Amino acid sequence: MEATEKYHFDVVRWFTIMAVVYLVVGTLVGVLIASQLAWPVLNFDIAELTFGRLRPLHTNAVIFAFGGCALMATAFYSVQRTCGVPLWSNKLAWFTFFLWNFIIVSAVITLPLGLTQGKEYAELEWPLDLLIAVAWLCYAFNFVMTIAKRKTSHIYVSNWFFLGMMVMITYLHVVNSLAIPVSLFKSYSVFSGVQDAMIQWWWGHNAVGYYLTAGFLGIMYYFVPKQANRPVFSYRLSVIHFWALMFGYVWLGAHHLQYTALPDWTGSLGAAVSLAMIIPSWGGAVNGMMTLSGAWDKLRTDYVLRFLIMSLAFYAMSTFEGPVMSSKTVNALSHYTDWTIGHVHSGALGWVVMVAAGALYHMVMKLWNTEMYSAKLVNLHFWLATIGAVIYIVAMWVSGIMQGLMWRDYDAFGTLSYTFAESVAAMHPYYVMRAVGGAIYWTGGAVMLFNIIMTIRMASATRGVGAPARA
Ligand code: HEM
Ligand code: HEM
Repeated sequence: MEATEKYHFDVVRWFTIMAVVYLVVGTLVGVLIASQLAWPVLNFDIAELTFGRLRPLHTNAVIFAFGGCALMATAFYSVQRTCGVPLWSNKLAWFTFFLWNFIIVSAVITLPLGLTQGKEYAELEWPLDLLIAVAWLCYAFNFVMTIAKRKTSHIYVSNWFFLGMMVMITYLHVVNSLAIPVSLFKSYSVFSGVQDAMIQWWWGHNAVGYYLTAGFLGIMYYFVPKQANRPVFSYRLSVIHFWALMFGYVWLGAHHLQYTALPDWTGSLGAAVSLAMIIPSWGGAVNGMMTLSGAWDKLRTDYVLRFLIMSLAFYAMSTFEGPVMSSKTVNALSHYTDWTIGHVHSGALGWVVMVAAGALYHMVMKLWNTEMYSAKLVNLHFWLATIGAVIYIVAMWVSGIMQGLMWRDYDAFGTLSYTFAESVAAMHPYYVMRAVGGAIYWTGGAVMLFNIIMTIRMASATRGVGAPARA
């Protein structure tokens, strides 16, 4: 902590910087794998650079490296501000920072080498799984202890969302990663067959529900009111939103396994609860947007606020689309197609990254006690991100629905109208379009990184390195 600083913000500053760095790296790998699908020659016949090896690197980089650093930066920042006390332990926060980054570097080495458990979003081998559990528990423990010594009487709702994420992700990660090691880099899951699939998607969906949704809602509940300079629209609605999400999400995993060896009723249950989730999700989105009621004019000038509000529009869109896709009729068409990829990225590019970008810009200005180096570049980033995301999502909707329809089309003799290879060839223009949309989106992230580096340099030059943050 700076001598003049009331809170432990140095570690938050570094988590903030690393989040933006990993955003640029993770989306660059995304653009590369998108281009590989359009132009397979880009696999270069080098095993470590093939799509199969780089795809998990992309998902791990964007979810755990970018998402993790953004969640740690924002949670450690907002818990200190809302509780009126510094972090319980600055040392433990730094330990978490180094361990998390060590895990990320290890993932960058092991995934291209093909060292993987083959479980989606849980690819890393057992030694890294153990380290993830340690880092996550340190993060959660520090957060809880900071809340325990708070000066305020109540616990602000953003902290509830962060807490919910921490508790759920701990036990989901531990249970799904239970494995028997046979060597340093090879292990076998303790689950097998249909139980393995069920546990894997119980984790897989909840990584979405608690990590990419609840955690980022924690961000939304702190940073939207702060940036808009208005109280949250309805505190009561936020509490309902919280409990409904916490109790609802955990039942949804089976909607990833419709028409598989799972008992049929599990898929129906997953679909029914998924449908019900529209209500709390939209309640939350409306709550965030209505926080601006009476101050909509701010959107005309405040680009950081635009990121936050646009993210809520995407959140509402993807939480409407998800329940629709979980119904058995729609899933029969959408499953295995690019429609799922479109849905993923409307949540990821539109919701997760945009809400985090809004929060990161907000924090940079507060933490370095300055305005952004260039408001025009924030504006440019906003438009590049919005246009890039829309191009990506539209390309995947068209290609996904086309794929689904081609696969199920029969001719008059009852044989399939198209071969699989024909459906792959038909995807080419959309894969090019996705790569272009992705490149535009990536450029936005690179502009953000440049703008933030220049902002920090500007702040350091005018006030000396590590100028104290604004109160
Ligand atoms: C420039 C931006 C991005 C591009 C071009 C991109 C591209 C891709 C591509 C090509 C795939 C593989 C699709 C397939 O297997 O058919 C993929 C998968 C995925 N990406 Fe991205 N991505 C980007 C950003 C992101 C971000 C920011 C996130 C999360 C915050 C994300 C999360 C994912 C996930 C979860 C998957 C796996 C989807 C599934 O298995 O259904 N991506 N991405
Ligand atoms: C109420 C909210 C939501 C529901 C009910 C829902 C439902 C679904 C369904 C049915 C699938 C396709 C399963 C399949 O056919 O394989 C899916 C995939 C996915 N969704 Fe959602 N979704 C929701 C919100 C979100 C949000 C906000 C995000 C992103 C931040 C997201 C990220 C993903 C990812 C990453 C996958 C791909 C998983 C994989 O196959 O690898 N979802 N979701």
